Amino acid sequence: KKVLLAYSGGLDTSCILAWLIEQGYEVMAYMANVGQEEDFKAAEEKAYKVGATKVFIEDLRTEFVVDSIYPAIQANAIYESVYLLGTSLARPVIAKRQIEIAEREGCFAVSHGCTGKGNDQVRFELAYYALKHDIQVIAPWRLPVFFERFAGRKDLLAYAAEKGIPVVQTAAKPWSTDENLFHISYEAGILEDPNVTPPADMWKLTVSPEDAPNKPEHITIAFEAGVPVCVKNISDNTVVTHENDGPLALFTYLNTLARRNGIGRVDIVESRFIGVKSRGCYETPGGTILRAAHIDLEGLTLDGPLRHLRDTTISDPYARLLYNGQYFSPERELLTQSLKFTQRHVSGDVRLKLYKGNVTIEGRVAAPGPGAKLYDMQESSMDEHGGYDPTDADGFIKIHSIRLKKWTPAEL
Ligand code: ARG
Ligand code: SIN
Repeated sequence: KKVLLAYSGGLDTSCILAWLIEQGYEVMAYMANVGQEEDFKAAEEKAYKVGATKVFIEDLRTEFVVDSIYPAIQANAIYESVYLLGTSLARPVIAKRQIEIAEREGCFAVSHGCTGKGNDQVRFELAYYALKHDIQVIAPWRLPVFFERFAGRKDLLAYAAEKGIPVVQTAAKPWSTDENLFHISYEAGILEDPNVTPPADMWKLTVSPEDAPNKPEHITIAFEAGVPVCVKNISDNTVVTHENDGPLALFTYLNTLARRNGIGRVDIVESRFIGVKSRGCYETPGGTILRAAHIDLEGLTLDGPLRHLRDTTISDPYARLLYNGQYFSPERELLTQSLKFTQRHVSGDVRLKLYKGNVTIEGRVAAPGPGAKLYDMQESSMDEHGGYDPTDADGFIKIHSIRLKKWTPAEL
């Protein structure tokens, strides 16, 4: 009876690993590298030491950037106007490989260490079931035999001692985190009081805007069909391209730029899918720059009504289904197709200034092609006639006023 456990190397999943073995299962450990800071070698050794029969460490970083992050940038996906969905975006990529390995290794079940109150359990499990309809799921934090035995961290530590599980003696941080190359999240612990300001030393990925350099950095991001293909740092002549360096290097470089300029910190009280509210703080450095640049380029290259339709029928639904763990669903496939269609001509360069937590747009040019035809300087100019006949606007306004003239405004 083989089980594939999503393993992090931490106390919880190490205890789950030992506990599953105690229940009589053969347990294999699976670790996804989605760009989190982690000693994978040490975690692998630990998993074997606890009793895993096999350990799989999978580098999913490029897949994460290309299949998950880029579409979210194209969609301008954001949850409740603030959260850039860093955790939500990684889950489908992680779950997909877990199911592939479970299938290959003949595991009847998969397991994870998510709590019973969060979004992640839903995201992982809906993905598992969508990708392998007959998979069994063992979620120990929802099993009374497990959560009644391990009521707190003390019980886990005692169990770890009993099972000879090495516990790294780092002072436990008074919050919980989830990190990948797009973002890091901070939740729980002292952050549960929504009126507690996050301590300055909590933030891990970015310098604080106050401590960022006093000199701005100027960059250019080139997009092709809504995807970034080149980043140029005008201040120091660094150039990173998809073609020469690959998407992972390009995105990582944007992270480097954002991190040193204090870009991408937010703090939100959000609505979990489960129905409870939750306070979360996030750092999404490179993603914050890309979002600003992409939205700007759409202003120049995307047709107005098409953009409005995309905003109202793709962007928010896409964000919500990611958040709610419905990535492997028919509606997501529909949205992906439509999104691709909208992005065909979103190509060109955006110039930006990065300075003390701010991303400021400095200019943009469209790449030659259909996207470059929308903005006509002469047509848009206030100083010139031309483009169209101003007397045509008379009729346009008259027609639009017909129904408004029949309406009696409510007294408010
Ligand atoms: N609240 C965020 C979300 O639902 C972050 C979740 C972090 N997950 C974690 N296991 N620490 O996407
Ligand atoms: C968890 O409950 O495991 C983390 C938080 C979440 O999934 O929302």
